Amino acid sequence: MTRHETQPFDGQKPGTSGLRKKTRVFMQPNFLENFVQATFDAVGGVQGKTLVLGGDGRFFGREAALTILKMAAANGAARMIVGQGAWLSTPAASNLIRQRGADGGIILSASHNPGGPDEDFGVKYNMSNGGPAPESVTSAIHQRTQEITEYRKLDAPDPDLDSLGETGLGEMTVEVVDPVAAYADLMETLFDFKALRDLFDSGFRMRMDSMCAITGPYAVEIFENRLGAPTGTVTHATPLPDFGGMHPDPNPTWAHELMDEMMGDAAPDFGAASDGDGDRNMILGAGTYVSPSDSLAVLAANAHLVPGYAGGLKGIARSMPTSAAVDRVAEALGLDCYETPTGWKFFGNLMDAGRVSLCGEESFGTGSDHVREKDGLWAVLMWLNILAARKMSVAEIMADHWARFGRNYYSRHDYEALPIEQAETMLGDLRARLGDLVGSEVEGLSVASADEFAYTDPVDGSISRGQGFRILFEGGSRVVLRLSGTGTEGATLRVYLERYAPEPDGLDHDPQEALAPMIAATETLVGIRERTGRAGPDVIT
Ligand code: G6P
Ligand code: ZN
Repeated sequence: MTRHETQPFDGQKPGTSGLRKKTRVFMQPNFLENFVQATFDAVGGVQGKTLVLGGDGRFFGREAALTILKMAAANGAARMIVGQGAWLSTPAASNLIRQRGADGGIILSASHNPGGPDEDFGVKYNMSNGGPAPESVTSAIHQRTQEITEYRKLDAPDPDLDSLGETGLGEMTVEVVDPVAAYADLMETLFDFKALRDLFDSGFRMRMDSMCAITGPYAVEIFENRLGAPTGTVTHATPLPDFGGMHPDPNPTWAHELMDEMMGDAAPDFGAASDGDGDRNMILGAGTYVSPSDSLAVLAANAHLVPGYAGGLKGIARSMPTSAAVDRVAEALGLDCYETPTGWKFFGNLMDAGRVSLCGEESFGTGSDHVREKDGLWAVLMWLNILAARKMSVAEIMADHWARFGRNYYSRHDYEALPIEQAETMLGDLRARLGDLVGSEVEGLSVASADEFAYTDPVDGSISRGQGFRILFEGGSRVVLRLSGTGTEGATLRVYLERYAPEPDGLDHDPQEALAPMIAATETLVGIRERTGRAGPDVIT
C-alpha cells in the first residue's frame, strides 16, 4: 500500500530556513510524512524528477532519509542522489544539486541548533539553483500542510545508505555518493591549493573546530589530506548524532574551547569553526576575533587575491542587520552593494541574475555564487588564501583594513527563550512609537531615523515587510532589533549594535565599550532588561 490517510498538523510553517522543530515533534507518526508530501505537492510533484538528499548527521537524520526515499519512490521520482550515511553538508548539497542538474534537494538539519532526541531537527527544501526555496514556495508548502489528507510511501525494505553506488527502490534509483569528494574538488577550482600547501609546509598552524558536526570529514579531507596540515588540525572531526553534547554554533559563546585556545599563550596562527550543517563559520587569529561583518568586508577587499575571484566581484550583498563595513569596501571598489532581509534565500535571486558574487550575514554566514548557500569551509579557505597571499597575520590584516576603511564597531546581543507574547508586545510598543522617535535625544544620541525594514527584490519585485526595526542615530551609529526566525523555544530577541569610527576616533577599543552609548540608548528606548527581568543578554557575538 502506498497511499496513507493523514490529517494536517498545526505549525508546519517553514521559518527563516526550513521547518525546525523539536526532534520528538518530527518523530510523531505522520508529522515528517505530511511535511514532505506537502513539499512534493507544492513543487508540482516529483514525478520523473531527480533530487539530492542528505543532512548533517544529527539524531533521526538516517530514519528521516529512509522515509523520504520511500516517499519519493511512491511519488514517482526517477532518482535520488544521497550522501553516504545520509550525510551532506548544506553547501555540499547545494553544489550537488547544481553540478548534477537535479530538480531540487532536501536537507535534513536544524543548522546550528543542538541535536538529539530532546533537541532539534529540521527539513529544508532547496530549488534547482541549489538555493533555499523562496517565500512563494515555502508559503505554498505551508498552505498544503493545512489541507493534506494523504501521503504516499512505498512499503519496502530500507535501502542501503552506506555502500556507494546505485540500487533500486521500486521504480526509483537510489544513488549513494561520497558526500565529500565533489565539494572538495570544487574548492580546488577556486583556491590556490599549491600556495596553501606551501603555507602549511612552512609551519603555519591552524585549528579547525568542526564541533562534532558535518564539516569534520570535509575539513579532514581538505586541510589534512589535500593541503598537508598536520593530523589533528581538525578537532571534533567525527559527526555525532548529538554533536557530542556540543551546541554546534560557531560563535564565541558556543565555540568556547576554540576561543580559549586562540586567546591563550600557545595560540595557533589561525582558527575557525563551523556549525551543524557546515554553512556557518567563525574566523579567529592568534588573540584576535574577527566579527562576521568584518570578515565579509575583508573578503570583499581581498577577493582579487584568490584565483576564483581574480577577475573581480560582480557585486556584494549583505543582510540588513549586518554592519556597513562591507559597504565601504564596495564603495571603494565601485561595486553595487545590496541590503536584503535576514536569510540566505534573499541572495539567491541576486546571484542568479549575475548581480552579486559575494554575500554575507552577521550571523556567521559568508559565501559566493559558487553555490547558493552560505559556505563555512569556503570562508575558511578564502581567509587562508588571503593570509597566504598577503603574508600577514589575521591581526595585521584587520588593523590594515580598519586603517584603510575605518572601523564599524559591531556586536549582537541575544535574549533567548523569552515568552513569545512578552517579546511581541515589546516590539509592538516600539512599532507604535517609531514615528515619534525621530529627532528625539536618547542618552546623548539623537535619532536620525527609525523604521521597520521592508525589501523589494530588484529581480522579481517581490516585497518582504516587517524585517526588523532600525533606529539610526546622527553620526552613523545604529541599533537594529528583530525576533529570530530560527529558534524553536519561545522568542529570541536580537539586538544589533553598530558604531562607525573613522581612523582618528580610535580603531582598537573593546567593542562593548565602544558601543556602550548605543546599549544604554536601547535600554531607554525599549526597556528590554526592565520588561524581561533579564540581567543581560544570553549570547554576545
Ligand atoms: C539561518 C539562515 C541565515 C540567517 C540566520 C539567522 O542560519 O540560513 O541566512 O541569517 O539563520 O536567523 P535568525 O532569524 O535566527 O536571526
Ligand atoms: Zn547552518
